[in-house]
Amino acid sequence: MPMLERADWYDIARDTNWTPKYVSQEALFPDVMTGAQGVPMAQWQSYDEPYKTSYPEYVRVQREKDAGAYSVKAALERSNIFASADPGWHSILKAHYGSLAVGEYAAMSGEARMVRFGQAPGMRNMATFGMLDENRHAQLQLYYPHDLVSKDRQFDWAQKAYHTNEWAAIAVRHTLDDLFMARSATETAIMLTFAFETGFTNMQFLGLAADAAETGDYTFASLVSSIQTDESRHAQIGGPALEVLIANGRKAEAQKLVDVAIARTWRLFAILTGPSMDYYTPIEHRKQSFKEFMQEWIVGQFERSLIELGLDLPWYWDKMIAEFEFQHHAYHLGLWFWRKTLWWNPAAAVTPECRAWLEEKYPGWNDTFGKCWDVITDNLLAGREDLTHPETLPVLCNMSQIPICAIPGNGWNVKDYPLDYEGRTYHFNSEIDRWVFEQDPVRYRDHMSLVDRFLAGEIQPPTLAGALAYMGLSPAEMGDDAHKYAWADAFRPDPLAKSAA
Ligand SMILES: [Fe+2]
Ligand SMILES: [Fe+2]
Repeated sequence: MPMLERADWYDIARDTNWTPKYVSQEALFPDVMTGAQGVPMAQWQSYDEPYKTSYPEYVRVQREKDAGAYSVKAALERSNIFASADPGWHSILKAHYGSLAVGEYAAMSGEARMVRFGQAPGMRNMATFGMLDENRHAQLQLYYPHDLVSKDRQFDWAQKAYHTNEWAAIAVRHTLDDLFMARSATETAIMLTFAFETGFTNMQFLGLAADAAETGDYTFASLVSSIQTDESRHAQIGGPALEVLIANGRKAEAQKLVDVAIARTWRLFAILTGPSMDYYTPIEHRKQSFKEFMQEWIVGQFERSLIELGLDLPWYWDKMIAEFEFQHHAYHLGLWFWRKTLWWNPAAAVTPECRAWLEEKYPGWNDTFGKCWDVITDNLLAGREDLTHPETLPVLCNMSQIPICAIPGNGWNVKDYPLDYEGRTYHFNSEIDRWVFEQDPVRYRDHMSLVDRFLAGEIQPPTLAGALAYMGLSPAEMGDDAHKYAWADAFRPDPLAKSAA
């Protein structure tokens, strides 16, 4: 074997399809688990994974990656990068770890589904490495923040978030369960690796590594780049699966899976990456706005991969692009307003300088979102921080599990998109969310949003304190303004009054 080049033996060695004698093919590979949509196994032989590697090669490279990431962490352990970083950066780290670390284990289950039920030997082979990758990502992203728990216990939510009923954790779980915990092998290949990873996370990790390096957090930068190199490999599982489906007359089915997955992933990106880029990142470190990022990478790059594969753009493409202008600003406002219900401290980032940046990047911001921040700022200047907290429940979207919101102020366009189904009224943030529900109502109908649970009496006592306890947030963990409202000082007419803040 060592005498041969990999290309000389790879195809034979990885081709583990055989004809079962003791059970039927259907019993070994039930359609509900393979998601092959009736495309016979023989047709899947044409599946050609673009990235080929062998187990010894994989282990050698992964060992080097792990050694690299862990040694950067060890070398910088005593530096004061963490202490001197802006609190907004700490919030990015907390939101990132809590919403993704345990989700990597979910991705590992998704990969395992492809390992067992993938119809193509190449898919099973690549997914085996993908499964090992995701296990490594979970372990890295639980280990790194663990060291920070002694400095700030909100970092404990890297481990804790997925095990709670905190609303953002429910939103993330609802999406990931839908896209890759409760799907067949083929659906997972398309929804997890093609839509979620190629479309979004691979880009997100590239951007995040650059931001971390810019901020001086080289520990996090090396962690994220180490993960991203795995993502760029195993994200290639879905493309050839789409090619097989399209070549066998299943384009419409494949298109629907892509459209649902992008719609769902976009919401998570809007609420996590949007505020991180346009608000939590200190203004001097911002290289591009979230909108510019989305236009360059998702519209510019991902759109091309869709077309090259022979797919169409999702029917809602223009509607989604229109949301780049406002949706994440609305989410940011909501996150900050309901800050006590978070495991991180949102940075308001609305100083006069920040507002000028927002107005430049998003013309009209001052007339819309700025109007709400005016009221918040006035209340803080008047010493009435108590008025900057909510007194009512938001209306949650029954698809994204995120409050329904859009443009406030002079551009007001907030609207519920309801749907009556089997005697229950569901509420949606947009036509897109409602369309996703309509594609498979049985799949989604029984889920109770946090507000549904509240109204059903499941949250006791039915007060904010009761809700916080239900969400698992102790007083020492719940979020607050990242900069302790210091940003409002810039609006005081009399500088001498600053000390009274
Ligand atoms: Fe991962
Ligand atoms: Fe991944």
